[in-house]
Amino acid sequence: MKTIDLALLGFGNVGKTFARLLIEKKEELQRDFNFLPRITAIATQSHGVCINSDGIDEQALLSMLDKDDPIDLSFLDNSGFSGDTYEFIRQVPAQLLFETTPVNPRSGLPALDYLRAGAKRGLHLVTANKGPVVYGYRELTELTGQHGRLFRFESAVMDGAPIFSLFRGPLAGAQLHGFYGILNSCTNLLLDRMRNGETLEEAIVFGASIGITETDPSNDVDGWDAAIKVAALSNVLLGQNLTPMDVRPTGIRGITPQMIALAEAQGKRWKLVCQGGWKDNVFQVSVKPEMIGSDSPLYTVDGTSSYVSFELDVLPGLGILESNPSPKTTAFGLLSDLIDIAKSESR
Ligand SMILES: NC(=O)c1ccc[n+]([C@@H]2O[C@H](COP(=O)([O-])OP(=O)(O)OC[C@H]3O[C@@H](n4cnc5c(N)ncnc54)[C@H](OP(=O)(O)O)[C@@H]3O)[C@@H](O)[C@H]2O)c1
Repeated sequence: MKTIDLALLGFGNVGKTFARLLIEKKEELQRDFNFLPRITAIATQSHGVCINSDGIDEQALLSMLDKDDPIDLSFLDNSGFSGDTYEFIRQVPAQLLFETTPVNPRSGLPALDYLRAGAKRGLHLVTANKGPVVYGYRELTELTGQHGRLFRFESAVMDGAPIFSLFRGPLAGAQLHGFYGILNSCTNLLLDRMRNGETLEEAIVFGASIGITETDPSNDVDGWDAAIKVAALSNVLLGQNLTPMDVRPTGIRGITPQMIALAEAQGKRWKLVCQGGWKDNVFQVSVKPEMIGSDSPLYTVDGTSSYVSFELDVLPGLGILESNPSPKTTAFGLLSDLIDIAKSESR
C-alpha cells in the first residue's frame, strides 16, 4: 500500500478539522482508495512547528486538540526544526503541501509565495485559501505541472461542495456561459436575522457568538468575500483574469429594516447576489443586494447555506445548494483534493 506524506501549513479552524477528518477516514482511504495518508509536518505562525518523517504521532496530536489549552506543536517535533515558513516548505518530508493560512483579498500574499515555493520544490499543492486561486491559478497550475504535480483548491469556494472538480470531471465538454448565486454564507445569515427583526449590528453580534462573523466583519458585510469568490469562479472556470477590486462589490450595509419590511410586504427577500458571465459579448460580474421573489431558487437559501447556478450550453440551469455547512464540510473539500491527487499518482 502506498503511503502519501502530507505537510500542513496553517493549523487553525480548517487545518485542525482536516487533521481530525483525515485520521477519522484513514481506514476508509486505505480500503477504498488504496493509500495511507500520513501527516509528517505542521506549521503555524505562533503555535509551533513539528516535523517527523515517520509521521506525527496521531494520538498525541488528537489529545492536544482535545484539550482546552492553546496548542504547542513543538512538543510533537523530532527534527529540531528552526527556521521560517519558507525553510519549513524546503525541508518538509512530504509529497503534498496543504495551505490553510489566512486569505489576503488584495494580493493573495504571502500564501501565494508559499505555494510558489512548494511548487518549485515539486510538491502537489492543495489550498482552502481563495487568494492564491484568484491571483495565482494559472501560474500555480503551470508550476506544479512542470513537475508532474497538481494544484487543487476545491474548498476555496462553497467549502466542500464539488464545484471545480465538476468541471474537470462530469461537466468536461460542456461550455459554461455564466453563473449566479449566493456565495457568502455570513451575509445570508445576517439578512435572515434582519428579516426576523434584528438590526445589522445585532445580527453581527449573533454571528460572532456562533463563530460565523469575524471581529472585523467588513470583509463579509461589504461584499469582499463574495467578490473574491466571483473572481475565483470567473478566472478558473471562465478564463478571466479578475481581482476582487474588478468586481466592485456592493455589500449589505445599506439594507435597512424598512427595506426588509418593504420586501416582505411584496413577498420578497433581500439576498446578496453574485453573478459572472458573458452578456452581449461582454464579460460582466457583480456582487450586490437584490430583492428576490419566491419564484427564484435563491429565495429559500437560508442561514449559512449557499447556492450557485451554472448556465451551460448543454444544461441551461444546473444548481448546487450547500445546506448548513460545518467546518467538516470545508475539511472534506481538502480531503477530496487529496483523493484526486492520490488517484493521479496511481495512474
Ligand atoms: N473557516 C472556514 O470555514 C473556511 C472555509 C473555506 C475556506 N477557508 C479558508 O481557509 C483558510 C484557513 O481558514 P481558518 O479558518 O482555518 O483560519 P485560521 O483559523 O485563522 O487559521 C490560520 C492558520 O494559519 C497559520 N498561519 C498564519 N500565517 C502563517 C505563516 N506565515 N506560517 C505558518 N502558519 C501560518 C495560523 O497560525 P496560528 O495558529 O499561530 O495563528 C493558523 O494556524 C483561509 O484562507 C480561509 O479563507 C476557511
